[in-house]
Amino acid sequence: MGCEEQEQPAHDVRIWRGRSDGAFRSYRVPARDNQTVLDVVTAVQRRDAPDLAYRFACRVGVCGSCAMMVNGVPRWTCRTHVSRLGPGPITIAPLRNLPHIKDLVTDMAPFFEKWQRAGGKFTGSASRADALASISPASKKRQQADAGIECINCAVCYAACDVVAWNEDYLGPAALLRAWTLVNDERHAGQDETRKKATGDGGCSNCHAQANCARHCPVGLSPSHGIAGLKRQSLAAMFGLGA
Ligand code: FES
Repeated sequence: MGCEEQEQPAHDVRIWRGRSDGAFRSYRVPARDNQTVLDVVTAVQRRDAPDLAYRFACRVGVCGSCAMMVNGVPRWTCRTHVSRLGPGPITIAPLRNLPHIKDLVTDMAPFFEKWQRAGGKFTGSASRADALASISPASKKRQQADAGIECINCAVCYAACDVVAWNEDYLGPAALLRAWTLVNDERHAGQDETRKKATGDGGCSNCHAQANCARHCPVGLSPSHGIAGLKRQSLAAMFGLGA
């Protein structure tokens, strides 16, 4: 009696190995129900490549640390189901526009340095002795700030931005969105300084309004909206009009 062994369904995966001068290596990973790209990377590490370097923490779309390029698109790998990728091999690479450390791990330092350069540090305008600030949630400024406040610094927008790729001096969408929330935050004592930094060298005027940042933001924020607001404020300041 013939007993033919059935081949288990599997994914062909190409993963970047090594540093910038490395190369893609191919792996085959058994297919599972509800499998995410992060599951695939973890399977490769457990089965074939124990020295594979990659980052993750929460696995549920909260921390943003698992961001990688998946088939050329920046994504949170723990929230990207393999079934959404369509047919063909899955190609997984480190996030674009950041220095490469090893395998799928990038150096995030330049990304956070740009937050500082954009004036992204909150400086309170009140002391502990002052009464709590009374800010109406319905005020236009508060709503503008709230629209960008949920950014968790995953750098997906930074990797998606072509201007960052062309111009390493450009502060990028996340840093400028942070600046936009602060110039609208009535409690921030450094609004003028933040505005000056975000509209100065490397700032908002470099944006080409392609909106790749908004298209790829995993939590649906629109850095391009904030950058447009900074541009308006910059123009208003140039013509001596109120921001
Ligand atoms: Fe935290 Fe993916 S591991 S968002």
